[in-house]
Amino acid sequence: MSDDGRTGTGPLPVAALDDPHLAPYAKRPQAVAAVAAVSMAVGIVGVIGFGVSYWVGNQTQWQAATLGVGLLGLGFGVAAWGKYLMPQGPFVEERHASHSTEEERSAMTAAIVERGGMVVKRRKVLGGLFALGSAVFGVVAAFPLIRSLGPKPGRTLFATNWRRGSSVVTVDGRRVRPSDLEVGGVLTVFPGGHEGNSPDQTILIRLEQLAPGQGELVLQSPGRSDWTVQGIVGYSKMCTHLGCPVGLYQEQTTELVCPCHQSVFNVRAGAVPEFGPAPRPLPQLPLAVDADGYLVAAGGYDQAVGPGFWERP
Ligand code: FES
Repeated sequence: MSDDGRTGTGPLPVAALDDPHLAPYAKRPQAVAAVAAVSMAVGIVGVIGFGVSYWVGNQTQWQAATLGVGLLGLGFGVAAWGKYLMPQGPFVEERHASHSTEEERSAMTAAIVERGGMVVKRRKVLGGLFALGSAVFGVVAAFPLIRSLGPKPGRTLFATNWRRGSSVVTVDGRRVRPSDLEVGGVLTVFPGGHEGNSPDQTILIRLEQLAPGQGELVLQSPGRSDWTVQGIVGYSKMCTHLGCPVGLYQEQTTELVCPCHQSVFNVRAGAVPEFGPAPRPLPQLPLAVDADGYLVAAGGYDQAVGPGFWERP
């Protein structure tokens, strides 16, 4: 039996609807609901702003400010909702039947109709905003994981900046003539405008020139007979094992050696690996000379440079 003498099966008195424990704590619930909604909306905008700021790489101050606004807005809105709009209680569970009788339900329905609504309302707008804010926060929280994977490589794994007609320049941008290389000399070059770009680095090697009729200067692969200029051959400098720069040239044996794991490439035979873990030859760059006597590329590399990767054909 409860304090008012009602048993578990008795009708619910209409006066129970006026129970101050069921009333929201706020004196003006609608105003508080509006403030909570605005706060959550501001929070959502803040979280979105943080996501955009993080994605485009803004300064950390912007990221901190937008994240702060987002968390504060959402937190304040939820706190206001929970503290001021929920029934203030306290509630004590009475020992009575856990289900209402028909008479109790009828009395409650009549009372609700009489009062024009319930004391405790479902606040769909606030619930929706809270769900939206949680969803946006969840998506934005995944940004660091996505960005930690680094920028997308795009086609850079397949193609370099070498094109037909690209000028051959040193790392400081100086154009190269065939006469700049003595027999046995090597030079690291790049396509003009991309000096220092690692995937483009190419090593030029000048082999001894043989007199006409003494055979091929370089035992090229089929179709590469005109890829050299005055004994100068160009190969990608990125090792096909793990990408180290292949810069050690042994003139006596005309071999290129990778310093990382000692792969040895036969310069005369299309830079095929003769020793070590490198699985493929160094790609060869076709060379030509322009009207002014400078070296240019007669085309780009015909295959991806550097180590193998998962999508390499
Ligand atoms: S990176 Fe060249 S041999 Fe390993």
